[in-house]
Amino acid sequence: MFRLLENKMLVPNLYHALISAPDVAKAAQAGQFVIIRPTEASERIPLTISDWDAARGTVSVVYMKVGKTTAEFAALTAGQDLATVAGPLGNPMEMGLFGHVVCVGGCYGLASIYPMARELKRLGNRVTIVIEGRSSYLLYWQQKLRSVSDDLIVITRDGSKGLPGHINNLTGVISRQAVPVNRVIINGCNYLMMRGSQETRPLGIRTIVSLNTLMIDGTGMCGVCRCTVSGSTKFACVDGPHFDGHEVDWDELNKRRGAYLVEETQVLRSSKGE
Ligand code: FES
Repeated sequence: MFRLLENKMLVPNLYHALISAPDVAKAAQAGQFVIIRPTEASERIPLTISDWDAARGTVSVVYMKVGKTTAEFAALTAGQDLATVAGPLGNPMEMGLFGHVVCVGGCYGLASIYPMARELKRLGNRVTIVIEGRSSYLLYWQQKLRSVSDDLIVITRDGSKGLPGHINNLTGVISRQAVPVNRVIINGCNYLMMRGSQETRPLGIRTIVSLNTLMIDGTGMCGVCRCTVSGSTKFACVDGPHFDGHEVDWDELNKRRGAYLVEETQVLRSSKGE
């Protein structure tokens, strides 16, 4: 029984689900994910664990309503049960005392960097969080993120809050830091992680990204999450999902990510009766 305790829209198209999953909550670590099947007839979707409470037995995920399965998820309400919540899966994010860590989040990545920043701060790192969005009304969890960071920097593409611009402002943000940056962590869509990694490469700063690949089992058996890192084949679910952003073959990743776009669009349309 994986009861939904809350399932509500945070900002347009992004939803927060609070789920009763005591075994997952007991074992979760920053950077791990769950595979969720909203209903018995649904496909399986991987979602990063955004928060958890071991005492209450709850986990949080933030997801974008983008296809048929996430639409099925968003249609569920508090009190209903999810068919499957499998996890925690994947490796936790590498933690340690690195010095000054910049955590960058966009879209659902605002939520997934939260537990990573919290743990890094707890370990004594200086933590700067950079969040970016198209506009200020698409940002969320700012208070939560502020509470686990030394500084929170906002970038919006329309300039409605913080610095105007995009992820390509990252070089400037890092260069202006009074305390040198030792590590960058980027979570969000593949474009954000790819562009962010391109920004940090000339600066020579180790940059860790959390890859969003298609997944089925999440345990290394199906091969759907295959990606290439440092010229070697990796499975994002068991070898990752965290990899050196300077070593990821982004072209291949983006092609594989879009492999079923036509079919997904058709399925979504037919589920809406179009
Ligand atoms: Fe099946 Fe990774 S999701 S091998």
